[in-house]
Amino acid sequence: MTANPIPVWSYEEEYREHRDTILAACDRVFKSNRLIFGEEGKAFEAEMAAAHGMSGGVGVNSGTDALEIALRALGVAAGDEVITVPNTAVPTVSAIGATGAQPVFVDVRADDFLMDVAKLEAAITPNTKAVIPVHLYGQCVDMDPLLDIAKRRGLKVLEDVAQAQGAFYKGLPAGSMGDASAWSFYPTKVLGGYGDGGLILARDEAVLALARSLRFYGMEGTYYSERPGRNSRLDEVQAAILRTKLPLVAPWVKRRRHIASCYRAELGNAVCLPREAEYGRHAWYLFVAEHDDRDGMIKRLGERGILCNISYPWPIHLQRGYAYLGYRHGDFPVAEAKAKRIFSLPMYPYLYDEQIRRVIDAVKEVSNG
Ligand SMILES: Cc1ncc(COP(=O)(O)O)c(C=O)c1O
Repeated sequence: MTANPIPVWSYEEEYREHRDTILAACDRVFKSNRLIFGEEGKAFEAEMAAAHGMSGGVGVNSGTDALEIALRALGVAAGDEVITVPNTAVPTVSAIGATGAQPVFVDVRADDFLMDVAKLEAAITPNTKAVIPVHLYGQCVDMDPLLDIAKRRGLKVLEDVAQAQGAFYKGLPAGSMGDASAWSFYPTKVLGGYGDGGLILARDEAVLALARSLRFYGMEGTYYSERPGRNSRLDEVQAAILRTKLPLVAPWVKRRRHIASCYRAELGNAVCLPREAEYGRHAWYLFVAEHDDRDGMIKRLGERGILCNISYPWPIHLQRGYAYLGYRHGDFPVAEAKAKRIFSLPMYPYLYDEQIRRVIDAVKEVSNG
């Protein structure tokens, strides 16, 4: 291993630059005498809702909880089916299972890893209640045809925006198009907290009220449950930190787009490059390339101090935890083929120009074996 390895992601430089603001936000919370359900959380929910043209927001403990609670608030329950893709983070699917509903998959497009909306209709049954488009790697699913199908077939649409903060679809921000959207503020995300966090945005006040109750033991007031519920809260410290970072999403996405354009300009002969769909603006949460000898590439890049990752090495339907769904090898050939070829290059706004150069030179050098 060389000195000064370049990680696939780091927040060290971000913290160095924004330390004073972040610590001031924490201090404000600690002095407020209100660590849970205070002004910071309420303000963050309102700011996120306003930024995405939704009626309101409900802060929760994680993106996984945001998905599960949003599904329940949209009326998903045991016996229903919810359609999504097999090449997503496990939590998209575990959240469906946690509601008692059955996850159902459709395959993805070969050129951008996103749900192949042309295959959606064939997966709908009388039990289908909702669809979760996953805006994977920072890029939006083709939402117009998806919303059209959902409207015709009476399905709820929950956008999984965990990876797509700052992305756009035909001028609309990711997370503003469905009946609801589920956000994760896991630290690596484009808008990441300094710990766990999540948020639900929704259009309908009744959905928001139900989500608010479900995250608070099913209560509407105190000490009396209207329905079985959970404890899932976005704490004041995380909300205060996220508020300081929200205005930085746009400049940070600009920087991510610059890094992606550098990679794309020079690496076309070395790897199979990711595509940016013409209808949108990629936020480049991850820069996912393909190579026939993916594992060899990662090893040789690692030896040169370029640390890569695989998101994700196993499609969900081939993982033991999801064998109960009854899918088999070959059911989703595109997702299965991609899982063997994909790897992520370092990507975060604080990647310096000389580090970008090192990544590019190393990928070129090792791509021919
Ligand atoms: C696509 C996707 N959905 C959901 C989640 C779950 O978010 P969290 O880790 O905050 O529970 C993640 C992130 O891990 C994700 O990448």
